[in-house]
Amino acid sequence: MIVREHFPSDLFSGKTVFVTGGGSGINLGVARNFAALGADVGICGRTESRLESARSELEELGASVSTTVADVRDYDALVDAFDNAREALGPIDVLVCGAAGNFLAPAEEMSANGFKAVVDIDLLGSFNAARAAFEQLRETRGCLLFISAGQASVPHIAQAHCGAAKAGVDNLMRNLALEWGRYGIRSNGIVPGPIEGTEGMKRLGPDDPEARARFTSAIPLARYGTVDDIGQAAVFLASPLAAYVTGALLVVDGGTYLPGSGLLAHRVQRAMAAAGGDE
Ligand code: COA
Ligand code: NAP
Repeated sequence: MIVREHFPSDLFSGKTVFVTGGGSGINLGVARNFAALGADVGICGRTESRLESARSELEELGASVSTTVADVRDYDALVDAFDNAREALGPIDVLVCGAAGNFLAPAEEMSANGFKAVVDIDLLGSFNAARAAFEQLRETRGCLLFISAGQASVPHIAQAHCGAAKAGVDNLMRNLALEWGRYGIRSNGIVPGPIEGTEGMKRLGPDDPEARARFTSAIPLARYGTVDDIGQAAVFLASPLAAYVTGALLVVDGGTYLPGSGLLAHRVQRAMAAAGGDE
């Protein structure tokens, strides 16, 4: 993995990193990057088989791994998960709040319970995790990382629940940076762009090759991101290189959100091309 070419392979040796929703996708990619640099890893999620398959991947990278089936909406389940991780691996140095849910639904068709489900998982789940891990993080003078999304700052069609939830997550991240700095705990967020091969892009991204090519061409760096792009940013933010960074949102999106929703930018580009202007 590329992090091993740029960071010491023992950077997180002796450290415990816990990732909520760490059984798949971006969160598993984050966990893998820490494991590649010597960390031991705790993960939780709702699906045991997913956690067990992630365990094998992380163990192959040399990590000791603790898995617990836990829904982030259930505070007591998180307390159990963090207790298990502590017993197996030692106190948590880095907590990554990554568990999230999403689907496309226009606001006028979204049920109140659909909105609530996403806010509960993304926002309450992030608070539950941070709160339940607080004593361990205080002990290690550790750090928090929140996985946000561009929807938090740029409105998207059919994403009212996700936008509201992730905006709350960003605000929570900054409040905890403010309140917990005195315990030596740093708190930062990462805003991933469209990440290749993930459940999120399966649910939200363009589904035919032509639409995907149009979407990709509107991204300034002209490609989707990878889970490692996000893992590398997480490693940096949790490392001593970021010792004075707290309350920050690191946007890792290839410039996707610079022109706003991206889709609008693309429409403008097409209109300009049709009028004979520059692409
Ligand atoms: N469109 C509209 N509403 C939807 C929906 C969809 N595609 N999927 C679920 N909902 C609604 C349900 O109808 C229900 O509302 P209701 O009681 O008024 O009918 C509500 O959301 C809760 O659904 P439920 O299936 O009980 O929620 P859950 O807690 O089991 O699952 C979800 C949470 C809905 C977010 C589910 O998609 C999930 O588990 N996602 C995790 C993976 C994921 O989203 N990955 C991408 C991360 S970016
Ligand atoms: P994913 O693979 O579906 O990741 C979500 C993970 O969270 C899953 O492992 C899921 O496992 C777990 N989870 C969901 N609900 C949970 C709950 N209530 N309690 C505990 N765990 C729960 O999707 P992804 O696309 O990689 O997304 C990962 C993160 O990146 C999310 O925070 C998402 O908002 C963010 N993000 C993604 C993109 C993208 O391009 N994909 C872009 C911006 C931001 P179980 O279902 O087994 O519980």
